[in-house]
Amino acid sequence: MEKNAKIYVAGHRGMVGSAIYRKLQKEGYSNLITRTSAELDLRNQQAVTDFFAAAQPEYVFLAAAKVGGIVANNTYRADFLYENLCIQNNVIHESYKTGVKKLMFLGSSCIYPKLAPQPLKEEYLLTGLLEETNEPYAIAKIAGIKMADAYRAQYNCNFISVMPTNLYGYNDNYHPQNSHVLPALIRKFHEAKVNQSAEVNIWGSGTPMREFLFADDLADACYFLMENYNEQGLVNIGTGEDLTIKDLALLIKNIVGFEGALTFDSSKPDGTPRKLMDVSKLHALGWKHKVELEEGIKLAYQDFLSKHS
Ligand SMILES: NC(=O)c1ccc[n+]([C@@H]2O[C@H](COP(=O)([O-])OP(=O)(O)OC[C@H]3O[C@@H](n4cnc5c(N)ncnc54)[C@H](OP(=O)(O)O)[C@@H]3O)[C@@H](O)[C@H]2O)c1
Repeated sequence: MEKNAKIYVAGHRGMVGSAIYRKLQKEGYSNLITRTSAELDLRNQQAVTDFFAAAQPEYVFLAAAKVGGIVANNTYRADFLYENLCIQNNVIHESYKTGVKKLMFLGSSCIYPKLAPQPLKEEYLLTGLLEETNEPYAIAKIAGIKMADAYRAQYNCNFISVMPTNLYGYNDNYHPQNSHVLPALIRKFHEAKVNQSAEVNIWGSGTPMREFLFADDLADACYFLMENYNEQGLVNIGTGEDLTIKDLALLIKNIVGFEGALTFDSSKPDGTPRKLMDVSKLHALGWKHKVELEEGIKLAYQDFLSKHS
């Protein structure tokens, strides 16, 4: 990407989009195009058509999506399927129509079958049933990957797809019901500390294994792949390292400084037992994460404190 190229970062206020935006700024890109969802509702086909015709972006990072944790995914099943399909259909199709040079579509590790062997290799896509709680979201994301590949095959578009593992970092969502596990734990432990609670009760058994990547590392990988990867199929982005939810909770408890007890509510759903990315393809391409979990959680907690206390 030339330094003066017109680059549209869709979803630039979100955790991922804002990290990509910061990364591009740091690399010296000065012609970045952004729209909030209030300015441009990407579900609206005519609005997206008009925007692409007027703005004529040369490169697109598609980081706008309806995103949430287990509860939100399971409760708003229709919205997650409909809104994500609309957003990606409109952006991918208009990118093709207006001759965008390259587009990156962001999916997520929940696209892989629930019981796929671990670690998750890119070729396990569509080899088994999905996790029920986030199936609508995953189906939309799988459609996005297949769309990028289909436009490459039929129209020779340079559209690529990346699948990040669980992310956390600056501008994360700390909503009490609709957030992902790591930010939800930061909030819970922080509130328990402030309220001097005796214990923190955590959803599920604490035994599932999860992998986490700092969002700024993801943005670094996205930039790297935008510059170096031009093929069909997906690329996993993660650390290749995981830990139990219990160990994650203990780490956050220490960083936040909560001194009470930690208990688990096994009546609540655990989700997929293990979700670790195989990142050998990414490593072979020449990229590896830089921010380790403890350091990243400390940075995320500082960001949380600056906005929520
Ligand atoms: N968070 C994770 O752990 C994670 C993990 C793997 C993959 N991902 C992927 O990364 C991408 C972004 O996730 P995120 O965590 O950054 O989400 P986020 O913080 O919730 O941000 C989503 C962004 O999408 C925009 N958006 C939503 N609906 C829109 C609409 N109808 N029209 C226009 N813009 C709309 C929002 O814009 P406004 O702010 O202007 O409303 C927001 O900035 C998603 O594709 C997700 O699947 C995330």
